Amino acid sequence: MVDVAIDGIVHKGKPAELLIDLINRTGGSVPHVCYHPQLGPVQTCDTCMVEVNGRLVRACATGVADGMRISTKSAKASAAQVEAFDRILSNHMLYCTVCDNNNGNCTVHNTTKLLAIEHQRIPFRSKPYEVDNTNPFYRYDPDQCILCGRCVEACQNVEVNETLSINWEDPNPRVLWDGGSTIGESSCVSCGHCVTVCPCNALMEKTMLGHAGFLTSLKKSALSGMIDVVKGIEPETGYGSILQVSEAESAMREHRIRKTKTVCTYCGVGCSFDVWTKDRHILKVAPEHGPANGISTCVKGKFGWGHINSEDRLTTPLIREGDRFRQASWDKALNIVASRLSEIRANDGPDSLAFISSSKCTNEESYLMQKLARAVIGTNNVDNCSRYCQSPATMGLFRTVGYGGDSGSISDIEKADLVLIVGSNTAESHPVIATRVKSAHKLDGQKLIVSDLREHEMARRADVFLHPKPGTDLFWLNAITRYLLDNNLAHTKFLDQWANGLDEYRMSLEPFTMEAASRISGVPEETLKAVAHMIADAKAMCILWAMGVTQHTQGSDTSTAISNLLLITGNYMRPGTGAYPLRGHNNVQGASDHGSMPNMLPGYQLVNDPEVRQRFETGWKVKLPSTKGLDNHQMVEAIHGGKLKAMYLIGEEMSIVDSNANYVGDAFAKLDFFVVQDIFFSNTCRYADVVLPGAPSLEKEGTFTSTERRIQRLYQVLEPLEGSEPDWKIIQDVANRLGAGWHYQHPSEVMDEIASLTPMFAGVNYERLAGYRSLQWPVAADGTDEPLLYAKRFAFPDGKARLFPVSWIGPTDQPDSEFDLHLNNGRLLEHFHEGNLTYRTEGIREKTPDTFVEVSPELAEERGIQSGTWVQLVSRYGQVRVRALVTDRVHGRELYMPMNSVESPVNRLTSSHTDPVTNTPAYKETSVHLKILSEVGESPLPRINSRFGHPTPQNGVEVERKWRRPDYAPPGRVLVQLQTKK
Ligand code: SF4
Ligand code: SF4
Ligand code: SF4
Ligand code: FES
Repeated sequence: MVDVAIDGIVHKGKPAELLIDLINRTGGSVPHVCYHPQLGPVQTCDTCMVEVNGRLVRACATGVADGMRISTKSAKASAAQVEAFDRILSNHMLYCTVCDNNNGNCTVHNTTKLLAIEHQRIPFRSKPYEVDNTNPFYRYDPDQCILCGRCVEACQNVEVNETLSINWEDPNPRVLWDGGSTIGESSCVSCGHCVTVCPCNALMEKTMLGHAGFLTSLKKSALSGMIDVVKGIEPETGYGSILQVSEAESAMREHRIRKTKTVCTYCGVGCSFDVWTKDRHILKVAPEHGPANGISTCVKGKFGWGHINSEDRLTTPLIREGDRFRQASWDKALNIVASRLSEIRANDGPDSLAFISSSKCTNEESYLMQKLARAVIGTNNVDNCSRYCQSPATMGLFRTVGYGGDSGSISDIEKADLVLIVGSNTAESHPVIATRVKSAHKLDGQKLIVSDLREHEMARRADVFLHPKPGTDLFWLNAITRYLLDNNLAHTKFLDQWANGLDEYRMSLEPFTMEAASRISGVPEETLKAVAHMIADAKAMCILWAMGVTQHTQGSDTSTAISNLLLITGNYMRPGTGAYPLRGHNNVQGASDHGSMPNMLPGYQLVNDPEVRQRFETGWKVKLPSTKGLDNHQMVEAIHGGKLKAMYLIGEEMSIVDSNANYVGDAFAKLDFFVVQDIFFSNTCRYADVVLPGAPSLEKEGTFTSTERRIQRLYQVLEPLEGSEPDWKIIQDVANRLGAGWHYQHPSEVMDEIASLTPMFAGVNYERLAGYRSLQWPVAADGTDEPLLYAKRFAFPDGKARLFPVSWIGPTDQPDSEFDLHLNNGRLLEHFHEGNLTYRTEGIREKTPDTFVEVSPELAEERGIQSGTWVQLVSRYGQVRVRALVTDRVHGRELYMPMNSVESPVNRLTSSHTDPVTNTPAYKETSVHLKILSEVGESPLPRINSRFGHPTPQNGVEVERKWRRPDYAPPGRVLVQLQTKK
């Protein structure tokens, strides 16, 4: 710590701390417009000028040093601050009272007040550009743009989409998209970073415009008139009194605008943010304090909330009558559910019923669902959709290090020297995690290796891109591990101290030579060796993987191989290291954590462990079944086999997202009784006997657990739409009609019960999770959590990790002369899974109206396919009709189909082959035949999709270019010259 005097008072400054942070931290104040703690120094506004030992410096760009004497209010500093701000006002018209950004947090407004500006010395000068309204979610008004460059910094260096720049050399600089395109036709992915950090109204969410203020919905002509009046009186009254009026208006808004913290409902990154609402209208999503995301979001979290007020929402229970459904009262519907479930249990036993919980629902709801299955019905037949994606990764970690979760935090991924991504389209599936990798790679010299079939964004950015043959990751990973051991590049000290089973493991690697790996994977031996050396040289490595690994017949084994490689190289137990299976759904981690699994009670406690069962039996006051139940794959088989008669499923589009969808649909049609609880009439509802309307995340309280094991609270933003109910209440109602006698008044009580029965969550409670506070499990009773797992020991009784041998079997469903093409599938940035939620946001539908099949330029030429050609894909299990998109993202005879379609779901093509360890379907092992249909349609991706844009990478806002303008001088210098003249 160093001693720094600020305005005569000595404070302790931290080394490398910025003056602006020290001043703010110690209760001082200095104006600052372009500085944002999450962006760092942008240095465009000059309003933060302070005097340090007699020299004017920017407080946002100067580090503290011992003995500094800082004056924030000296005449020199104050004059420089005012001069700088005057220049800003020449770019911005102050019409706060009729501005939708007049919400108490406008930096321009607040700085005008802070500096007590009464009159502008430099008059406002309009810029010769039109407002750009071409993006469906936000608009840019050049006339209001103060050229602070925050948006550019955020786009270039935080999101790293590299769309924005400022043409500093132009007589009339402005923000540019792709160097001068319209926003709509640019590479902008609508992540919203720029809008979030804009300090004024130049960039605004369209949902705010005309809705936030009391006067802002007036016609443009009326608004212009009012602005003219205000401008007319300004020379006489000064800004002081005008600002008072706008502040009164702003204060009135506080009574009608609610700002409620929630957690994103889409992917597993766990972004959290405030949702601003006026009645049921969502004004905007404001990310800032989220521990996982800060100012970051992707298009879905920032703008993808059209499902909330969609007219398609279910608002009344439905009961099947023949081929139709009729509306019913809640009482009637729930009575039918209870009586039919009771009847079937009485006739066929508890194991003739099954329960599917939702990874979109809360932890508390997942807990109640498995409690309903086990404690009320008496079966362990309960599962969730982690079976379709995450179970193999969890298994790989259970086998080797003990806990089935990411071994560190997203901040560890940022810190790593080397990130290895295997089978994950991170930029589209976990966009905010991708921003952290892209930024560390761009700015901090982090190395990036990507292995994937497709040349997606992360692959294009990688230092090394591996394109192995489908389903061969296990082989090359094991070969690299063997190479490291053979060449004394393993971390032997770490292995001696922390790993068991090295000898047996080393023997198991016998077949995995580099030569064999190259032959099987198709990756040149030299490339594999280069990768091995990069891994050996890295001081800290993280491996990220996802469904490109897990959705194979050897998903568990490949996940195990990844963890083995981390152990061999000593890449556990330290910051910046570890295993990161990227969890897909917002709460897929939590759904399993809280016991919606056929073999485990909450906290991964085995159902066949008598001590565990005894604890739950005492807590729940019932006798519990002791044998493992059916997972969701086995449930489908059991329905076909006539053993499973009834199912209760919540929030899961299983008829489309399970593999071999035709087979799954046929199974559902055979059920004696099927209850589906959802917020829309999904495809799965078509098979239901009773449909119950649940509530989406914004309409309930609870917690979600993200990929980094982070438990976060969501608060109720809106009342449940009339006629729908939060899922925890519905489950409780069903349970009570079956005689359970539950009395939960609030999800916090459910969490208290979870904590009392589950050592992993012993210290979790709602107080410790209040607001933006969060906990990363395991959480000790005193509330201590573990952002970095295994800091002291691995999660096995002796504290040591276990090297777990895996052998090579190879993928199924291989191409042959009939089914000659490999079909890969996965997500698209804009949509979530089948799109039941995201298609309800108009702007998303506009940008990505449909699914398609990606075809390589080589194959397109060979077969005469263009973007827009309708093709039929036929697999051994089904067929779909879809339009082609010709793109070099895919190579050769490999196709890719995004999963966002209910009409043509890719899972009509996928098989029932599974990973034998977890029963996770081998979605990524599908061979198809492609038949060209005669029609040629429009390209399935419209021109306004970001994929057609042309980014303009640069390092941030490049303020030096502004400083080189002939008309620029730092405000202090102007001031010094003026003073000299006087
Ligand atoms: S990608 Fe688009 S929305 Fe995201 S920061 Fe860049 S310009 Fe803004
Ligand atoms: S649009 Fe960009 S440069 Fe203009 S005021 Fe907003 S953040 Fe600053
Ligand atoms: S979908 Fe994922 S990355 Fe996007 S805002 Fe939500 S949690 Fe964040
Ligand atoms: S806040 Fe320091 S230059 Fe803008």
